[in-house]
Amino acid sequence: MQLKGTHKALFFLHKHKMARLSRTLLYLILAVILIIGSFPVGESAIGVNWGSISVHRLMPSTVVDLLKDNKIKKVKLFDADPDALKALMGSGIEVMVGIPNEMLAALSSSTDASDLWVRQNVSRYVVKGGADIRYVAVGNEPFLTSYSGQFQSFVVPALLNLQQSLVRANLAGYVKLVVPCNADAYESSLPSQGAFRPELTQIMTQLVSFLNSNGSPFIVNIYPFLSLYGNSDFPQDYAFFEGSTHPVTDGSNVYYNAFDGNLDTLVAALNKLGYGQMPIVIGEVGWPTDGAVGANLSAARAFNQGLINHVLSNKGTPLRPGVPPMDIYLFSLLDEEAKSTLPGNFERHWGIFSFDGQAKYALNLGLGNRLLKNARNVEYLPSRWCVADPSKDLTNVANHLRIACGAADCTTLDYGGSCNGIGAKGNISYAFNSYYQVQMQNAQSCDFDGLGMVTFRDPSVGDCRFLVGVTDSKNSLAFRPSHRWTTIWTSILWGMWFFLRF
Ligand SMILES: *[C@@H]1O[C@H](CO)[C@@H](O)[C@H](O)[C@H]1NC(C)=O
Ligand SMILES: *[C@@H]1O[C@H](CO)[C@@H](O)[C@H](O)[C@H]1NC(C)=O
Ligand SMILES: *[C@@H]1O[C@H](CO)[C@@H](O)[C@H](O)[C@H]1NC(C)=O
Repeated sequence: MQLKGTHKALFFLHKHKMARLSRTLLYLILAVILIIGSFPVGESAIGVNWGSISVHRLMPSTVVDLLKDNKIKKVKLFDADPDALKALMGSGIEVMVGIPNEMLAALSSSTDASDLWVRQNVSRYVVKGGADIRYVAVGNEPFLTSYSGQFQSFVVPALLNLQQSLVRANLAGYVKLVVPCNADAYESSLPSQGAFRPELTQIMTQLVSFLNSNGSPFIVNIYPFLSLYGNSDFPQDYAFFEGSTHPVTDGSNVYYNAFDGNLDTLVAALNKLGYGQMPIVIGEVGWPTDGAVGANLSAARAFNQGLINHVLSNKGTPLRPGVPPMDIYLFSLLDEEAKSTLPGNFERHWGIFSFDGQAKYALNLGLGNRLLKNARNVEYLPSRWCVADPSKDLTNVANHLRIACGAADCTTLDYGGSCNGIGAKGNISYAFNSYYQVQMQNAQSCDFDGLGMVTFRDPSVGDCRFLVGVTDSKNSLAFRPSHRWTTIWTSILWGMWFFLRF
């Protein structure tokens, strides 16, 4: 009996164990399905470009929180800014750092230079709890036609030196070298005829062979906006993703949007060099919201949402059906109001967020949030503006305007801008205020020989926003001890609640 009982118990135990085992198995299978389900093969990731040519800079930690709140897991930088990289440490966000074109000559001629660069800008961050640097962009559009070839010959030698440095740092398997190219590196009237510019054939052959041997993607920047902006014959609907009344027929393939047409031109160009299967990443793509006639909120929203939906649909292109780009990096995260306006005034207005991290329009990034989430805890300067004193004679203001708009951004005032049409006095006030905010609201900066005055009433009119600056000063917290105290008090109160609960 005793034995039987034990036997019975053992049997039950055994049965119980079996049940547990099969349940564990079931969980395991479920987990595997979930994991596979959340990383479907061939699905693109949506990342963003984080540029910082700006006079009003958010604290890097605020920007990283903005990325996290919007579930953005990939970010591309144009340099290796230590403040940005420090803020990204421990965030789990994958990072592409950049090497400016001006540094390519030095890196191409010396392995000491490339060793130092890797040590200073990669190795020290790629540690446990560090910044997850996955790519190094060697140059930024170094083959751009308007550079007249000045960086061209440095690219491959710099790549080779940096690759050796990565090997020496034991990082070559983890960090990939890439070269973001402008779409002007290739050309053709029909996608299937795509070829790299003749003078680039040799360099491109070396480049793609290098990329291929390292398992790196080809990175290209594609801008249907620029096609539309620079070409009055360009059919407007072809720049977007809603179908086109002017589709491009290429043999048996029909293209309904400029993005696919452009991408397949690259695919054909790569194919000509024998690398038709090379993975492609879109390094920059986007639409500006101000500073040109075709640059406005509704167009930017239509383009970016259309692009994201198109890419996430996994449709691919006629030459790569079912294979969308590996990743796309939207250009851009934030407006950068100190960028050169040489390409056009729109250049300062590419952000999906304004300079202060506020969403400009409704956009679903396809990353889990239905809408963009604004930056939190932005530290604004006080709510005050500098405007033209209405009681003063403003006839001799031209010189002030030149100085103000040289140092601050006035691009929205021009034709096609959101502040074009606020009148002569409005123009002057806008310029005064932009300057005043760039000068961190320094009282003298609103003087303008007595023509300016500070106001506490927001002078914004309609879509024309008179901004208030932000402060990126880390010391600003020191002036606001209340922040820290709130946190401490909250902790204490939570602690008390925890004990009082019982
Ligand atoms: C590391 O990157 C920063 C930012 O791009 C640059 O200023 C610095 O010169 C780089 N370090 C070296 C050793 O080149
Ligand atoms: C916005 O831009 C699009 C083209 O980019 C244009 O068709 C549309 O008219 C513009 N909207 C406004 C309100 O200017
Ligand atoms: C305001 O400034 C812009 C840009 O300089 C100009 O195009 C516009 O005509 C100005 N408006 C008036 C009323 O002077």
